[in-house]
Amino acid sequence: MKDVLNGVKSSINRRKFVKNGLTAASAATMGVGLLASSSSAFAKNGPEEHSGSLTKGDAAILRFLAAAEILETDLWQQYNELGGIQDSEVPGGSGNSVYTAALAVLDSDMAQYIHDNTEDELTHEVFINAFLASNGADTVNLDQFRTLPSSKASGAQQIGRLTNLMQLTVDTSWWTRYRVGNKNPDFGDTFDQAVPTLNMGQHPAIPRTDDDLTPNDHIQAIANTAGFHFGTIEQGGTSLYPSLAQRVNHPDVLRIVLSIGPTEAMHFQTWSDKAGNAPALTDPKDSTLVFPDLNSPPLGGEEFQTNLIMPEPTIFLSRSLPACSIVRPTATKGAAMGALKFLTAMGLFIGQSPAFFQLLTDLAEDADAAKNGRA
Ligand SMILES: [Fe+2]
Ligand SMILES: [Fe+2]
Repeated sequence: MKDVLNGVKSSINRRKFVKNGLTAASAATMGVGLLASSSSAFAKNGPEEHSGSLTKGDAAILRFLAAAEILETDLWQQYNELGGIQDSEVPGGSGNSVYTAALAVLDSDMAQYIHDNTEDELTHEVFINAFLASNGADTVNLDQFRTLPSSKASGAQQIGRLTNLMQLTVDTSWWTRYRVGNKNPDFGDTFDQAVPTLNMGQHPAIPRTDDDLTPNDHIQAIANTAGFHFGTIEQGGTSLYPSLAQRVNHPDVLRIVLSIGPTEAMHFQTWSDKAGNAPALTDPKDSTLVFPDLNSPPLGGEEFQTNLIMPEPTIFLSRSLPACSIVRPTATKGAAMGALKFLTAMGLFIGQSPAFFQLLTDLAEDADAAKNGRA
């Protein structure tokens, strides 16, 4: 997948996909319409986006975050249509009772949490774009890329999607990363997987068709996959915001990233707790997918037992300093591109066009080029 990101350098002009800051009013009032409607108010072509009254770096960081939040909203929307609560706050879909029940095995409030996480991402997306627009800076619109198919299972809307939840390779190493006290990815450390087979091959996290609703252990394996994917996505946001916060300039931009980032951590903590309830099983339709008992070796015990959901203090900044309970990683260098590679490697964008990868790569490169006086 790394090659996909590095190999797209054709001549497409990304200005086509960012909207001019003059559309501030429409961006601010677009609300949930942003999910499905496309705007015709494209900026005229040019070599770079406008930053308005923001510094170039602040605008670039916010645009990358806006793109990430649009993608998050798209994936959470798909979960909500099938396994959440469909209402006026998060419209679309009609629910799938079998999938919803399988998710409820992890926690009886899963549908509510899925709904609330979806609504949160939508507000992140809309707010960041509206802030950019209100400062005369170009915003991000990915509607051109809503081309991926929806699930055909009962309950899903049939609309074009930005993200693919049906062929995921889920990195579950956050489970151990937050539970060990002498390692930190910012020091180059690596971490064992909670569910090694989920980090290999491709697995659906939502039912693809109604055939996926039986037998019981198969739809439970899909719900378990979702349960771990929720944590995987939200730990990414938990690291991304503090990583990029180190390079913003304006106090309002700092306040935005410092205020949104911790909500990603609230999501992550919730999902970290729920994933521990995923029942041990082997998928009867895919014997390569095995959910182990997380309270048995090689996990379990004092370090890994499933009710230990708060971060274990670990090394931070220097091994000579005392251990500290922290988000990790938070290194700022290359943080945006790292996030894009992480999302791409999990299969979230399987089926997307080269133009999509080029736009996201350009937005990440610009965000990673942002500098301030401190970093
Ligand atoms: Fe978010
Ligand atoms: Fe999030």
